[in-house]
Amino acid sequence: MSKQNLKPPRGTRDLYPEDHRFREWLFGHFRDTAHKFAFEEVDAPIVEHAELFMRKAGEEIVDQLYHFEIHDRHLALRPEMTPSIARMVMARAGGLRFPIRWFTVSQNWRYERMSRGRKREHFQWNMDIYGEPTVAAEAELIAAILTMIDAVGLARGDVKVRLNSRSLLEDSLRAGILKQRPEAFEPLCVVIDKIEKIGPDKVVDMLVDPTGEIRLEATEARDVVQMLSLSSLDDAVNAAPKGSDAGAELQRLWRLLEAYGIEDRVVFDASVVRGLAYYTGVVFEAFDTRGDLRSICGGGRYDRLTETLGGQSIPAAGFGFGDVVIGELLSDMNCLPDLKRRLDDVVYAFSEDERGSAIEVANHLRGLGRSVELILGTPKLKRVIADADRDGASSLWLLGPHEVSRGVAKQRVLESGVENEVEIANFAVPNGTP
Ligand code: HAM
Repeated sequence: MSKQNLKPPRGTRDLYPEDHRFREWLFGHFRDTAHKFAFEEVDAPIVEHAELFMRKAGEEIVDQLYHFEIHDRHLALRPEMTPSIARMVMARAGGLRFPIRWFTVSQNWRYERMSRGRKREHFQWNMDIYGEPTVAAEAELIAAILTMIDAVGLARGDVKVRLNSRSLLEDSLRAGILKQRPEAFEPLCVVIDKIEKIGPDKVVDMLVDPTGEIRLEATEARDVVQMLSLSSLDDAVNAAPKGSDAGAELQRLWRLLEAYGIEDRVVFDASVVRGLAYYTGVVFEAFDTRGDLRSICGGGRYDRLTETLGGQSIPAAGFGFGDVVIGELLSDMNCLPDLKRRLDDVVYAFSEDERGSAIEVANHLRGLGRSVELILGTPKLKRVIADADRDGASSLWLLGPHEVSRGVAKQRVLESGVENEVEIANFAVPNGTP
């Protein structure tokens, strides 16, 4: 018989208690930040109809789908949350009071080529606003991202947000190169999103590929790549065709960012277009300023997704913030929190004769909302004390024959060494001793 593979599938993670403590800590910050911005939490099934994720623009995410057929249904594990959120909004569109602000903390599955910060399952904190057509939505979203960055203890200069608008590029291309073939714009964005990964020459190769969907002339392809190198918003605004509002919109957004006091943490970068087809306007990504990692989070405006899915058009903007890259960055910057297990009390019976009284004490303490470890078996007291100390418990409750015969438990406050006797029947933790 061949040996069973007992490892988790490649690219997935087992979470041991210390890993889980970190995850809960991180998710706690996601949720706290979302609540600061008055977003409400929602959720959706992790398995969806596969067609919800099938788009035709050549995005990697579609090829990376974990999908399967069961009872004649073609289903998929979600690779991202956005289509599910759009589906949920569409289902209640008539009854929702727009704008709505929803957030999720949810797992996504993508059959990725693995690298640092890239796994086959990851969690994402998503924040999305539906029903707000102006860049006030993007400003609120970018402020939330930076609030989260501050909350986890990173320094102000460690992370910046790169900002662009797909409309800047779209307006230029629709007035020129793509005048006759506007449908090539989405696949074009998917290709140029790869520029950092594969370099400008390979991007040009893909843009001119006669078997592909974009099929530019070599000079046109080079012009497109050239547009991505504009590094100031003013240059980009000047390069945009007459009548394009995209530049002015970015300038409006900048003024809002100033009001939040975060404009120095956001940079214009014409090469940010994002690899997902549905973005229609402002796009942004947060990255570590040392440039060691892939993006910490990414998002933008996607005003046409609900329409593409067959509903009415509803303006929307949002972002996804993964749990993997931020973990890597916190570790690199020595900012990982020192998280102890949560333990308030340890209750110890010297022998099985005192176990009933020990259970009674544990019941009382648990009733007070405390986290109580009732020691199982009767290990050596020395070991119990050392473990309780290591795990950060505040009190040790000792039940020996001498205590039980008098109806009391002995409480030892671990930090001070002070000992009290507490009546088990009228259980009350003495004042000032946690
Ligand atoms: P995304 O850029 O595909 O956008 O993912 C957002 C973030 O999730 C990335 O910046 C990265 O931190 C993390 N992430 C993505 N894939 C992986 C992976 N394989 N391993 C580890 N982390 C990963 C979206 O998913 C959009 N749906 C975000 C959005 C929400 N746009 C609007 N609303």
